[in-house]
Amino acid sequence: MSAPDVFPPAPEVSAAAHISSFEKYQEMYEKSVREPSEFWGEIANEFYWRVPPAQPFLNYNFDVTKGKIFIEWMKGAVTNICYNVLDRNVHEKKLGDKVAFYWEGNEPGDSTSITYAELLKKVCQFANVLRDQGVKKGDRVSIYMPMVIELVVAMLACARIGAIHSIVFAGFSAESLCERILDSHCTLLITADGFFRGDKLINLKLIADEALKKCTEKNYSLKKCIVLKHLARDDAICDGSSKTSPPCKRLCQNVQGNKQNRARQAVPQTTWNPSVDLWWHELVKKASMECEPEWCDAEDELFILYTSGSTGKPKGVVHSVGGYMIFTATTFKYVFDYHQDDVYWCTADIGWITGHSYLTYGPLANGATSVLFEGLPIYPDISRMWQIIDKYNVSKFYTAPTAIRLLMKYGEEPVKRYSRKSLKILGTVGEPINPEAWLWYYNVVGEKRCPIVDTFWQTETGGHVLTPLPGATATKPGSATFPFFGVVPAILNESGEELEGEAEGYLVFKQPWPALMRTVYGNHERFEMTYFKKFPGFYVTGDGCRRDKDGYYWITGRIDDMLNVSGHLLSTAEVESALVEHSSVAEAAAVSHPHPVKGECLYCFVTLRDGHEFTKSLTDQLKKLVREKIGPIATPDYIQNAPGLPKTRSGKIMRRVLRKIAKNDRELGDVSTLADTAVLQQLFENRCQTIQS
Ligand code: WTA
Repeated sequence: MSAPDVFPPAPEVSAAAHISSFEKYQEMYEKSVREPSEFWGEIANEFYWRVPPAQPFLNYNFDVTKGKIFIEWMKGAVTNICYNVLDRNVHEKKLGDKVAFYWEGNEPGDSTSITYAELLKKVCQFANVLRDQGVKKGDRVSIYMPMVIELVVAMLACARIGAIHSIVFAGFSAESLCERILDSHCTLLITADGFFRGDKLINLKLIADEALKKCTEKNYSLKKCIVLKHLARDDAICDGSSKTSPPCKRLCQNVQGNKQNRARQAVPQTTWNPSVDLWWHELVKKASMECEPEWCDAEDELFILYTSGSTGKPKGVVHSVGGYMIFTATTFKYVFDYHQDDVYWCTADIGWITGHSYLTYGPLANGATSVLFEGLPIYPDISRMWQIIDKYNVSKFYTAPTAIRLLMKYGEEPVKRYSRKSLKILGTVGEPINPEAWLWYYNVVGEKRCPIVDTFWQTETGGHVLTPLPGATATKPGSATFPFFGVVPAILNESGEELEGEAEGYLVFKQPWPALMRTVYGNHERFEMTYFKKFPGFYVTGDGCRRDKDGYYWITGRIDDMLNVSGHLLSTAEVESALVEHSSVAEAAAVSHPHPVKGECLYCFVTLRDGHEFTKSLTDQLKKLVREKIGPIATPDYIQNAPGLPKTRSGKIMRRVLRKIAKNDRELGDVSTLADTAVLQQLFENRCQTIQS
């Protein structure tokens, strides 16, 4: 490969950056881990506190053998995160007229925007609605909504009154929503009539109704369900009076007629239970636009977000007000090197942690302007992303490797149809990015001028923990590079010994940073068991990691995606990365498979690019490639043709399901998070198209 292995930041990028050299990063990093209270104390001073943080600034126990695990930052200090991300920007920083969000709908031309001052009013108004409905500090509110501005309004309204939001991704099933409502004992649900994902209608209210019915069957009844008229509102708003209905500036004239037709068809299906259901637009009419925030302790719970657990039952990850606020704000500022004239776009859904931290709280805390996109990357055509970048002059763009690989399949031409000249920094998150996709992102999308920040973190970590800083870090494709401020990583072997220098093993963290999760909702023991039991004294990420000779960290995938072939620890991600380097392969997933002699072996699923054939010669080439890239030990035993892979709605490959398919085991367990169940049948059928060595 002729491409360089290391990509130092361009001098002009460094010159303009908050952190302009690696030395400056190291200096700040040293301080952040040696004197965390002082380091974060200075940052906390930039925020508004009713009662400022006092000593001890940080108090914690990471060691199960010494007692209960707990993490407290700034306990006793009093603030409100909604006040800090809205009122402070409007009143103190005078950013009231600045756009907080450009909303871009599923259909091109369906767009609107909202300023900080307008957002503050809407949030206050809805916070009053929630209070009118009896929601109090500490109550849990479920939010099950599409990617609309009102989703942000709903979550910030909860934060304003000290209620705990639990956002459930709008792609989840009724069963999953019910399970999450029950686990968190929510008293109120906020949803919408429906939305379009591409040309597919998602009748959200019907799914929500089904979820509430399931809750009732389990003897749990929600008090109220507030329903946003999203599908149907176009007709109401597009009557020429849009300018007079503040704060909506919907540019409806360009909306394709078919959307309105579809919306009309969809509306009558909205079911209604008058004793529970309430229309959002009717409630807000009567509510005041002023609302005194509920002043909260820094350690009060801010939100619950469910993430999958190894037992199958999702875990309610709990984040608290103060630490999460300062950490998401700081990571956003430094990792995306945020400046006031930036237009930032994070493509993640707010239903996932990335949408919480880097579409909502982090950017808003910095007074940033963001794009909030309702649609899909390749709808209505494969250039949609690049078109949106040009439309809003996006300067910082944050997406997932799976989206990059999808877009890569269509080649360079759809990208080059648009200039993308506004782009300055590109980010990725969610899974290890294979160097091929990294290079495509860098060379084609960013035209070699935009640094890539490969940000490693988890729902549990609240914000970035391993990441390059664009003006300071020389990047290596596929490596999340170095720890963020306050984060102390270590690599352990199976017996819990810390490995120094070049090493591979379990990625753990030695001390808390402000946004580390505080507990699993309603089950502190599960929190301790999952993250602290295996290696006392450390937070265990569940990810495998390699540190190279230069000290760079490389995430090798979940530990449960690691396999031990004849006593050698291997990561499925490394094998996948090798497979996708072959010109016939669009995507690959490798899983471990029982083997009588080796213990475990590799079973690989490959999705071929259009026009390529699955042949014995191809599988021979693929095996050779893996052997060459990683070593003979990694040679796959099986390669199966997989025209489609089982993915969650956020795009993660469900390797657990693939392991079952490899074994021809049809007891797949919980597949409720699977985006498209049709691929399963095909994968079972294609097992005969498996070529074994
Ligand atoms: C994986 C998403 C490699 C990792 C923010 C982690 C990554 C899990 C990266 C958390 C990355 C996330 N490189 N792997 N840059 N980012 N992961 O909770 O396995 O949805 O443990 O949070 O995604 O996924 P979660």
